[in-house]
Amino acid sequence: MSGNFASLAKKRRTVYTLGKTLPVSDDAVVETIEEAIRQAPSAFNSQTSRALILLGKEHEKFWELTREQLRKLVPADKFQPTSDKIDGFAAAAGSVLFFEDQDVVKGLQEQFPLYADNFPIWSEHSTGIAQYAVWVALAEIGIGANLQHYNPLVDEDVKATWNVPASWKLRAQLNFGAIPVAHQAPEKGFIEDDARFIVAK
Ligand SMILES: Cc1cc2nc3c(=O)[nH]c(=O)nc-3n(C[C@H](O)[C@H](O)[C@H](O)COP(=O)(O)O)c2cc1C
Repeated sequence: MSGNFASLAKKRRTVYTLGKTLPVSDDAVVETIEEAIRQAPSAFNSQTSRALILLGKEHEKFWELTREQLRKLVPADKFQPTSDKIDGFAAAAGSVLFFEDQDVVKGLQEQFPLYADNFPIWSEHSTGIAQYAVWVALAEIGIGANLQHYNPLVDEDVKATWNVPASWKLRAQLNFGAIPVAHQAPEKGFIEDDARFIVAK
């Protein structure tokens, strides 16, 4: 693979140490995220993916409410490392919360009973594709990210805080921000191609 996609696919990596000063404006980041999700494919073009895009103080609010939910679960004497991890996420510039609209999924199941069992599965595929699309699109404009899953722990708080429709099911959180100048992504290991691919021709 060579060309734009190959280099972008390599450029997208998990980055945990992220800063607040983005290389582009907030509006440009929002537009990049929205366009990546708009253009992502979905079963029957059902467009089930939804996103809550949080920047600045709203992003920090998300990580604070996550911290408080975790505090209820993690024993007090073991909480410091958890809290430190949350500090790291809050130090980033923003987060994209990915949802799938269950009303749309149910509507499809009613409309196409033959595929009823498949629509929830395809909805999960769609969110994964949307997440990857956003992650790569952010990498393209020099923004780093890491993917988190604090759902369902934070679902109720998120719905109440940002007035998210009841039918939106939270699937993942992509935390994003500035990549430190000295950042070096760790070498990535790959399984043997023989174990992964079968090519017949
Ligand atoms: C479906 C999925 C779930 C993941 N969940 C988490 C997660 O909860 N927390 C986390 O830090 N990284 C998570 N990751 C990131 C992976 O650990 C990471 O993508 C992998 O180690 C490869 O590294 P790379 O992103 O630098 O290529 C997830 C990635 C995928 C695709």
